[in-house]
Formats: sequence, structure tokens, C-alpha cells
Amino acid sequence: MTAHHALIVDLPPIPSAEEHTNLNGVAGLGHVLAPGEIDMSHGTILYLEDVTVSFDGFRALNKLTLSIDVGELRCVIGPNGAGKTTMMDVITGKTRPDGGKVFLGQTLDLARMSEPVIARTGIGRKFQKPTVFENHPVWENLELAMKTDKRWFASLRARLDRQAQLRIEEILELIRLQHQATRLAGELSHGQKQRLEIGMLLMQQPALLLLDEPAAGMTDHETMELAELLNKLRGSCSMMVVEHDMEFVAALAGDSGKVTVMAEGSVLAEGTLDGVKRDDAVIESYLGR
Ligand SMILES: Nc1ncnc2c1ncn2[C@@H]1O[C@H](COP(=O)(O)OP(=O)(O)OP(=O)(O)O)[C@@H](O)[C@H]1O
Ligand SMILES: [Mg+2]
Repeated sequence: MTAHHALIVDLPPIPSAEEHTNLNGVAGLGHVLAPGEIDMSHGTILYLEDVTVSFDGFRALNKLTLSIDVGELRCVIGPNGAGKTTMMDVITGKTRPDGGKVFLGQTLDLARMSEPVIARTGIGRKFQKPTVFENHPVWENLELAMKTDKRWFASLRARLDRQAQLRIEEILELIRLQHQATRLAGELSHGQKQRLEIGMLLMQQPALLLLDEPAAGMTDHETMELAELLNKLRGSCSMMVVEHDMEFVAALAGDSGKVTVMAEGSVLAEGTLDGVKRDDAVIESYLGR
């Protein structure tokens, strides 16, 4: 076995036949969607309606209703325990909602799909802690990420083809790690690791990126570099960013971007950052603490 082959062991499990059926969307409509294909014809990438999640009777999500437009960068803020991470758990299939609708595009019913199948539909999730392959060079992290994507995997031969190599170079430049390409990922700073992980997600060409407190633990400079990166991605994929750092949120939302404020498992307010900051309920439950 070559070293190259030894690296492909991280592939997610192949979905079962039943999971494939679920991936094809609403059963019985006769419309067969290719895996990973998302119907964005109505301009909505993500749609949540009345989503409820209870843990031992406690409602972490309480009739949460929210939708995100294709290409939008949505910031979500709110106090600790508001249900922001739980919402991401529901979207990615880690937690099953007790009730409500969760749709990716018009047809993919995420509430009925398993976690590995959802991962293949084009939802990428960034957890708070950077998860990179510390003992591999930066460029190889990107290559490995690409191999978990069936669209690349299908065309991959024993050697990296030219197209894949160009993609890696493009991403390295985007995440501003082109000069660190041959360094071990473990040697990077916290901010660089976070950008690398975002680069790894981008290798899989996500339609929707979920980022949970990506700026946590970063220096001010790293935080602004991250905002710059996410602003550059605007339009190429839809994003949902959960964050407490208000300067970071301001850099992402600008004057007109929509911000969602969550509290007690529901949407408390939605609007421009300036608008929600002036909202009495928001001041009381979050900003005015
Ligand atoms: N697996 C679980 N079992 C029991 N309770 C849970 C579980 N996951 C979350 N909770 C509870 O649900 C509520 C919402 O938690 P969640 O982590 O979604 O909040 P959050 O908005 O992400 O908060 P933070 O800003 O602190 O990250 C909290 O009260 C939390 O304790
Ligand atoms: Mg959280």
C-alpha cells in the first residue's frame, strides 16, 4: 500500500440504500434528486419552521422558525444557552428535532436524513475547536479534505490531477496560507488553524457553511482576518455564523446584512445589526446584561 492510499482511510461510511432513498427528497413525488443536488429555485437555502428540541423536558429549541437565502451570510447572536449550537446540531442531523420542519433547499428534508447523508448534501460545519490533521503538512490537509468529497473522489487517481492541484492552490491563497503550505498543520497559530479548517471545508464545495463561534480564542487581528475571509466567500456559498464577538459580527453584517437574535430556543429579533441593537427585548435579554 502506498502512503497515498494509506491516507484515504477517513472516508465517511457509504450511505445505506435506505439513506439514499431519503437523500432523494420527499418520497413518492417521483422526483429523483442526484445526491448533493439542492433545489434552490425559490432562493432559499435553509428553512426551519417550528423546530422543537427537548432535553428531559427542557426546551432547548422552542418553535424555532428561520430561513436563509441562497448566498446569504447570516449572523446569529444570542445569550448562552439560547439554543444556537443545538440549532446547528439539528441542521446537521446530530440531534433529531421533536417536531418542526428542517429543509435544505426546497426538497431535502434534513429531519429525516442521517448525519453522514446530510454531510454529503453539501452542508459543511465548523466546530469551535480547530480540527486539522496536525501531523500532516497544510497542503495535505486540503488534499485529505477533498478526498472525503465524492465529487472529487470519483475522479481521483493515484496522483493528484491538475484540476485538484489548482483547487488546492486557489484555496491556499484564499485562506492566506500559501506561504505555510509545507509546514505541519500542528505548527500553525490558532487563527491559521481555523482558516485551514475553513479551507478544508471549502475543498468539499459546500452549499451551506455553518460556523459556530469561529472567532473564539482569536486575537483581534486574527478575528479581522477571518472576517475578511468570510466576506470574500460571500456569494460563493451560503453561511450561518454564530458569534458573540460583536465587532466580528459588525464586520460581517455591515449596515444592511440580516442578523438573527436567538433567546430561549426561538428567534427574539431579526434585522440589521443596528436595528436589533435598539430592540428593547434584545437589550433586556442579551446586550444589556
Ligand atoms: N445534549 C444535551 N442534553 C441536555 N441539555 C442540553 C444538551 N445540549 C444542549 N443542552 C441545553 O440546551 C440549551 C441550549 O444549549 P446550546 O448549546 O444550544 O446553547 P448556545 O446558544 O449554543 O449557547 P452558547 O452561546 O453558550 O454556546 C442549554 O440550556 C443547554 O444546557
Ligand atoms: Mg453554542
